Formats: sequence, C-alpha cells, structure tokens
Amino acid sequence: MELDEELCLCFHVTRRKIANFIRIEQPKAVGQIAECFGAGTGCGWCRPFIQRMFESAAAEGELPSAEQYAQQRQQYIRETKGE
Ligand code: FES
Repeated sequence: MELDEELCLCFHVTRRKIANFIRIEQPKAVGQIAECFGAGTGCGWCRPFIQRMFESAAAEGELPSAEQYAQQRQQYIRETKGE
C-alpha cells in the first residue's frame, strides 16, 4: 500500500496521515490514533493495520542513536573478542 492510499476506508484517512500522526503526536496507546480524523472508529477493518503501524513505530523508537549503536558494537566486540 502506498503512503497516499487510504488505510481507513471509512474516514478516508491515508497511511501517510496516520504515519505522520504517529511521528508527531507519539501516541502512547494505539487507541489514540483515533484522534487522527477518526481512523479506526468506523467498521474496525483497519484497526489491525493501524496496530501494526503503531507497533512498528514503537519498535523503531527503541533503536539506539547511531552513536550509542556504535559504542554498543564496540562493547559487543570486546566481549566476544571479535568472534
Ligand atoms: S476502514 Fe477504518 S474504521 Fe472502517
């Protein structure tokens, strides 16, 4: 599905609108995404897909910064002696 295609068909909310809402508003619960033009509050068909987008964004938020990532790698190499 392309970013400008509708994810919530009931309320004509595009995937891009939902992705931007998640990025900017950083909802703590998936239900808060309903504040994005009512996404997911109609028939319910799109809710599992909205849930997936929410979980994916949450997982991305758990990634370390590039600096932390490189430092953690150094520690990993020290601990495993490069093996
Ligand atoms: S398609 Fe989103 S609530 Fe119906």
